[in-house]
Amino acid sequence: MPRIRPRRNRKSAAIRDLCRETRLSVQDLVYPLFIHADPEDQPLESLPNLTRWGPRGLLEEVGRAVDLGIGAVVLFPKIAESKKSSDGREAANPDGLIPTSLRRLREAFPDLCLFTDVALDPYSSDGHDGIVAPDGRILNDETVEVLCRQALIQAHAGADVIAPSDMMDGRVEAIRSALDGEGFEEVSICSYTAKYASAFYGPFRGALDSAPRGGDKKSYQMDPGNAREALRELALDEAEGADMVLVKPAGPYLDILRELRQATTLPLAAYQVSGEYLALEAAAASGWLDREAVVLESLLGIRRAGADFILTYYAPLAASLLS
Ligand code: PBG
Repeated sequence: MPRIRPRRNRKSAAIRDLCRETRLSVQDLVYPLFIHADPEDQPLESLPNLTRWGPRGLLEEVGRAVDLGIGAVVLFPKIAESKKSSDGREAANPDGLIPTSLRRLREAFPDLCLFTDVALDPYSSDGHDGIVAPDGRILNDETVEVLCRQALIQAHAGADVIAPSDMMDGRVEAIRSALDGEGFEEVSICSYTAKYASAFYGPFRGALDSAPRGGDKKSYQMDPGNAREALRELALDEAEGADMVLVKPAGPYLDILRELRQATTLPLAAYQVSGEYLALEAAAASGWLDREAVVLESLLGIRRAGADFILTYYAPLAASLLS
């Protein structure tokens, strides 16, 4: 007979609660929202049960999220084709969709934490996160200049946390200097430190019509086979002044989260991306998996691997299940 019995610590809900090592709560969630300028909300074909919100729908949906206890959101814009260009200059339009939406949200929800995405892909007629040279290369330093202008516009419009997802070299340092230069010392930078060139972004690109029109993103996003390289990116982001660091996607990269957790004292974020969402939605819709159970388990697993907070399209569902 065994004398040592790990099952003793599992024998009642109360004991299991005391012994639980990792918890998931609504405070851990950031809600990503797709938006557009049209007045009508648009259900997303590529992402079942998600909507691209018009200006009014956005305020209503964020209101519902706030009522569920969600404290942070991040916005992703679908830009009209006529406003896209090869240098993505619409990204730095002070009256563009993102700054306008930020100002409205800031006014309606003064305590809400507003994250913004910094990258050119929604604004680029090439569908790339950076400026494309005639020979197809993605121009790093020219892109960083536009990213700095984009970040400043977002800060002026009320962003709390600027999150560069473009993977250009040196952008954290450059954005920090640009922000400090205009008096935005208190605006944070959450760097996409380890963003992989992942097939799990497919449905997101469908939602924003932002897929690359030529080539792929492998010359700037990381190779899915690489882990040491994530530590190198982390060292750079720390040195450049990032306030928070992020791993993306989340579920297939839990080992990276664990490594970064051990290597940094900074808050660590994870992005459960569109393809992860879609895989769970598809399995649930077919009746193959129990939706509510797998959603919470997938998020708990990301927390257990080391994430402090999670960007997830499941934020409202998880919030309502956790309350
Ligand atoms: C682009 C960006 C992407 C996502 C967030 N920001 C896509 C990409 O790199 O092509 C993907 C998020 C998701 O799939 O949910 N800067």
